[in-house]
Amino acid sequence: MKKILDLITAEMKSAFTGCGYEESYAKVVLSNRPDLCEYQCNGAMAAAKAYKKKPIDIANEVVAALTERSRSQAAAGQTPVFAEDGVQAVMPGFINLKVNPQYAADYMNGMQAAPKYGVEEAGHGETIIVDYGGANVAKPLHVGHLRSAVIGESIKRMGKFLGYDMIGDVHLGDWGLQMGLIIEELRDRKPELVYFDESYTGEFPKEPPFTISELEDIYPTASGKSKEDPAFKERAQLATYKLQHGYAPFLAIWKHIMSVSLADLKRNYDNLDVHFELWKGESDAEEFIPWLIQDLKDKGLARESQGALVVDIAEPTDSKELPPCIVQKSDGAALYATSDLGTILQRERDYQPVKYIYITDKRQELHFTQVFRVAKKAGYVRPEMPMIHIGFGTMNGKDGKPFKTRDGGVMRLEHLIADINEAVYNRIMENRTVSEEEARDTAKIVGLAALKYGDLTNQAAKDYVFDLDRFISFEGNTGPYILYTIVRIKSILSRYQEAGGAAAQGSILPPAGDGEKALMLELAKYNEVMETAFAETAPHKICQYIFDLANAFNSFYHDNRILSEEDKARQSSWIQLITLVKDVLETCIQVLGFGAPEKM
Ligand code: ARG
Repeated sequence: MKKILDLITAEMKSAFTGCGYEESYAKVVLSNRPDLCEYQCNGAMAAAKAYKKKPIDIANEVVAALTERSRSQAAAGQTPVFAEDGVQAVMPGFINLKVNPQYAADYMNGMQAAPKYGVEEAGHGETIIVDYGGANVAKPLHVGHLRSAVIGESIKRMGKFLGYDMIGDVHLGDWGLQMGLIIEELRDRKPELVYFDESYTGEFPKEPPFTISELEDIYPTASGKSKEDPAFKERAQLATYKLQHGYAPFLAIWKHIMSVSLADLKRNYDNLDVHFELWKGESDAEEFIPWLIQDLKDKGLARESQGALVVDIAEPTDSKELPPCIVQKSDGAALYATSDLGTILQRERDYQPVKYIYITDKRQELHFTQVFRVAKKAGYVRPEMPMIHIGFGTMNGKDGKPFKTRDGGVMRLEHLIADINEAVYNRIMENRTVSEEEARDTAKIVGLAALKYGDLTNQAAKDYVFDLDRFISFEGNTGPYILYTIVRIKSILSRYQEAGGAAAQGSILPPAGDGEKALMLELAKYNEVMETAFAETAPHKICQYIFDLANAFNSFYHDNRILSEEDKARQSSWIQLITLVKDVLETCIQVLGFGAPEKM
């Protein structure tokens, strides 16, 4: 469906050109004075300079043309876009606009009938890779990984909704020093294991030599040791080197680490309602690296610098000096950038994506600038390939410092989720209208909404404060408030049905009051919001929209008695309108990555 703003702008353009002015002056925006009008055009002010006239004279001419247009539209049996008295020129030259109530109703009926309520698919099955999650194997998920998972999942769902083939890859950190650390710590704990017997030639056991809770203990111990004990660190480095060069016993341990850890990671991501199409990781890039290094050398892109191999990426237009990208350390080891480049080769070979989106902490910005530039310089992706890095800010505690547990440790994601669910549960139980079991289930759904909405409602790049009490509040700009609005509509609809309300008949009628009209115009923004939010990879725009829509619905609901309305055509129109609100809200939250309960 055409966007309402475009339809209004088209009217304005024909009026401007009809009066002999360029159409570029006909830009229409949402009104910043909703008490006076719904939309406005400020183009007469700019046109005044170009045409050496008074702005108000131009505005008056355009208004006269618009009024004439409306008259002839009505005469031809069409619905005029603007209301009678809905176009006004005011000093110094603003054009204030109000939409014809019938036109607003027509737009609602159009939305109701259109696929996806009027959102047009921008994609036609093109593949887009979304690299998010980024968990590190054998290290527990912490809140730092939360943002990547939450933002990435939402962006992926947005793209899917718009018709792209979105491939989400968790891109595990599964090949680094942590593996060597675990191997050596395991040797210290269980030296008798066959993996450490160099003369062993048999098959390696199928059973992992540790459980998940042991593994969770092994890594932090090893990491602590490596900071104090240089000899231990050296052993870990050697073990990592051997693993990366295919030493079978260590590969066998690695596989155990992977299977034990992955099961746990999957459970954690499932709890977040975050799902990946691909569970690949840094280790999968390994096979591409020898070719990659050779190719960068052959193309004359890689040069030696203090024993290491680097690729210059600076460009004359850079505002600050960018260091070269290191692709091989002096000891021959590959680095983070090397594995990201190898992964690009693999993704190009297997998926031929039209776009790449990476979601990590914004401190990785330089890394991605380097990787993207090398990939383009070397021709691994075409020069105009959109490669987007969404760098997010830190989730802080109320003290403004990175979020920690009460005793100052790193907060584990599952504990954070448990805390939220508990707080929501207590809130629900305050009212005591549902069973404990039901309250537990509802708390899970509402808690997830509180967590995700609390994150997504901020522009990704900004730091934000994790404020549990505010996030779980049923009032204000929160996830629970949105869910509460949906649940409220569901309950009106079911009460309507229980009271024998007929299935909605007839069309949505022109609004009877201002609140109803405001609700319609809010609904009418839907397609534009969904399309821009994805184009700008900005889930916070959807959050902002559903907050506005929920507010518009709640004030409409406050002013109208839907269930006791005597005029049946009016009642049916309202039922259809609020159904549309519910459907739009539900689609939006689904895209954001959470759902609504039946009751709350
Ligand atoms: N494992 C990394 C980390 O914890 C994030 C990986 C992000 N993705 C990528 N392709 N580099 O920081």
